Amino acid sequence: MQKTLSIIKPDAVKALYTGKIIDFIENKGLQIVAKKKMVLTRKQAESFYEVHKEKPFFSELVDFMVSGPVVVQVLTGENAIEHYREIMGSTDPNMAEEDTIRKLYGKNIQCNAVHGSDSSENANTEISFFFSKLELIN
Ligand code: CMP
Repeated sequence: MQKTLSIIKPDAVKALYTGKIIDFIENKGLQIVAKKKMVLTRKQAESFYEVHKEKPFFSELVDFMVSGPVVVQVLTGENAIEHYREIMGSTDPNMAEEDTIRKLYGKNIQCNAVHGSDSSENANTEISFFFSKLELIN
């Protein structure tokens, strides 16, 4: 069993897609072991996306991520990191495969509904960015 971090982003929360996205995740066989709804501070968003700080879209990305509440979750399941990336679909919703979260609920490459960890090292870092061990159901 593996764990991964999921963020339902401000565009999807604002559009009231949270419940639909949670249903989608659970129906695809992943379990939610921790969840919180929060508004990120600019400092938190900059720190979370630090790997992208040299990218031309970085400041827009930070503006977007602090623009409203997000729902942060830890998901678990067999091969959860890859499995969740598959069901999210491509970063750009216009390129995303049918029956993926970003195809169904994303707007564009920035407002793409969800984030998911891309490696087991990043999953551990991202999970501990938001959650303490005590907050995770084992
Ligand atoms: P995410 O999977 O959270 O990882 C980094 C985020 O940066 C990505 O989803 C998008 O929201 C955003 N992003 C990636 N590429 C671009 C781009 N070319 N223009 C604007 N935003 C982008």
